[in-house]
Amino acid sequence: MSNVISGKELSKEIRKNVKKRVEELKNEYGKSPHLAVILVGDDPASLSYVTAKERACLRAGMKSTLIRKEISITETELLQEIEKLNNDNGVHGILVQLPVPKHINTNKVIDAIDYRKDVDGFHPLNIAYLHMGRKAIYPATPKGIMTMLASTKVDIEGKSALVIGRSNIVGKPVAMLLLKENATVTIAHSRTRNLKELALQSDIIVAAVGRPNMVTEDMVKPGAIIIDVGVNRVGDKLVGDVDFDNVKDKAAFITPVPGGVGPMTIATLLENTIETFLVCENDK
Ligand code: GUN
Repeated sequence: MSNVISGKELSKEIRKNVKKRVEELKNEYGKSPHLAVILVGDDPASLSYVTAKERACLRAGMKSTLIRKEISITETELLQEIEKLNNDNGVHGILVQLPVPKHINTNKVIDAIDYRKDVDGFHPLNIAYLHMGRKAIYPATPKGIMTMLASTKVDIEGKSALVIGRSNIVGKPVAMLLLKENATVTIAHSRTRNLKELALQSDIIVAAVGRPNMVTEDMVKPGAIIIDVGVNRVGDKLVGDVDFDNVKDKAAFITPVPGGVGPMTIATLLENTIETFLVCENDK
C-alpha cells in the first residue's frame, strides 16, 4: 500500500459526492447552487484558476457565472458589484479572485461579501467563528487538508502538529482546524529559530511557506504525516516545500506536489458552495 495521499484521487471522490448531492438539491429545491466569481484584470494565472473553478462547478451540475472586470474598475464600483451579488437571491456563493489590483483595498473587498455567501471563508466573521469553534465556512485549502488527514484514518487527537507558515489563507486556519481536532499545535514561521527541533518532535507537519524543499529528511520524525502545501516553480517543474523523494520513505503518509493538496482546494470549494447554498435557501 502506498503511503502517498493522492489529492487527485480523493478530490475525484469529493466531486462525485458533490455531484450526487447537487442532484438531490435540485430535486428538493428546484434549483442548483450558483457560484459567482469576480475576476478583475487579466492576470493569466488568476484567469486559469477561475476557469478551473468554473469548469469544476459546471461538471458538478452547479451554476457558475464568471464576472470579468477591467483592471481600471474603481474600488467603489467593485464593492457595488459585490453588493449586487449579496442581494441576488439566485446567487449562493461569491468569490472575488485575489489578488485584486493595488488601487483596491483587499480587506474592503473581503469585508463586503455577505459572510453567508463567502465560499472562500475569508470574511472576518467566518474566521472569528472558526477560531471560536463555531459553525463556519472554512477556507478551502485548510479544509481540504483536514479531509486528507481524515483519509489516513489516523486519530489526530493528542498528536503534535507543526504548521510552518502563518498566512491567513492556509497557516492560521489550518492550525485552528487541527486544534479543533484536539491536536497540540505549533505555528512556525520565518522568524522561528529552532525549526528542525520542533519538526523532529512533530507527528504531523503542514508545510505552507513557499520555499522549495525546505522540509528535509533530517527534520522528519519516522512515521510522521507530511502535508505539503507548497507550489514552487523550479525551472519548468512544480515542486513543493518538502523534499518529497527523500522524506517519502520516512513518513507514514505524505502528499505529493503536484496532485496533492492542490486538487483538493477546488473540490472543497464545491463543498463550500453547497454549504452556502443551504444557508441561503434555508435562511430566507
Ligand atoms: N487567489 C489564490 N488563491 C485564492 C483563493 O483560494 N481564493 C481567492 N478568492 N483568490 C485566490
